[in-house]
Amino acid sequence: MKLSSANINVMIKACRKAAKILIRDFGEIENLQVSLKGPGDFVTASDKKVEKILIEELKKARPSYSILSEEIGFIKNDEEFKWIIDPIDGTSNFLHGIPHFAISIGLEHNKEIISGIIYDPIKDEMFVAEKGNGSYLNNQRMRVSARSKLKNCIVFTGGPSFKTQNDDKELSLEEYKKFSKIVATPIRKMGSASLDMAYVAAGRCDGFWQRNLNYWDIAAGIILVKEAGGFVTDFKGNHGYIDNKTILVTNSKINEEMIEVLK
Ligand code: IPD
Ligand code: CA
Ligand code: CA
Repeated sequence: MKLSSANINVMIKACRKAAKILIRDFGEIENLQVSLKGPGDFVTASDKKVEKILIEELKKARPSYSILSEEIGFIKNDEEFKWIIDPIDGTSNFLHGIPHFAISIGLEHNKEIISGIIYDPIKDEMFVAEKGNGSYLNNQRMRVSARSKLKNCIVFTGGPSFKTQNDDKELSLEEYKKFSKIVATPIRKMGSASLDMAYVAAGRCDGFWQRNLNYWDIAAGIILVKEAGGFVTDFKGNHGYIDNKTILVTNSKINEEMIEVLK
């Protein structure tokens, strides 16, 4: 079965076009890894190129929609509809030649995410979801996993692994240590929050938590997880708009257990 509404088709088209540049540039990274200059500036340029194509394509198809995109910021237009774009989510992976990153586009209607796509161009995996119509991976319906005991699960987290001086909220490492003391659950840091969420939606992993994310990291993931039957909450289990970007994503069955551990 295929998910194909007018807006989804617009998103997929924009994404596929931008992904061509991304794939080509990723091929160049290998050469740059060994050069003295390194791939740093090149990656920034890729980010901007990909964003430019996405915005051009989305604007062409939906001239009135507002846009929030990581590099360019907010382009105010229509109050009702807004695209939320992360041109490359997983930049560090991209920079190091690790094939795990994605383009992420969410669509908000009256402040609610109604559709989203996350595209991993290297594995050619297109994760798509629309409110009320389910979540799909390359046109196959996705469901979250059925695992109900945390000890049998794999969970993802992200963010810096240290407590920064200016931000006492960056507790990933402390949480990580606490977490691994309490449960023997394998924890992975994959380096792309959008793919982390897409993988929960696909049932490949069972949960994900992180602090201090940006809206473009999670916008598309929110609808993917919800439409696949998962929960997107804060650390206390509150559903609804995730305002402080502290996010807990689960297959729903391990939600309570995860909240306990993260307390
Ligand atoms: C980052 C990735 C990473 C997460 C960071 C994000 P970027 O996004 O999603 O997994 O841990 O918090 O900033 O910089 O690659 O777009
Ligand atoms: Ca990101
Ligand atoms: Ca990014």
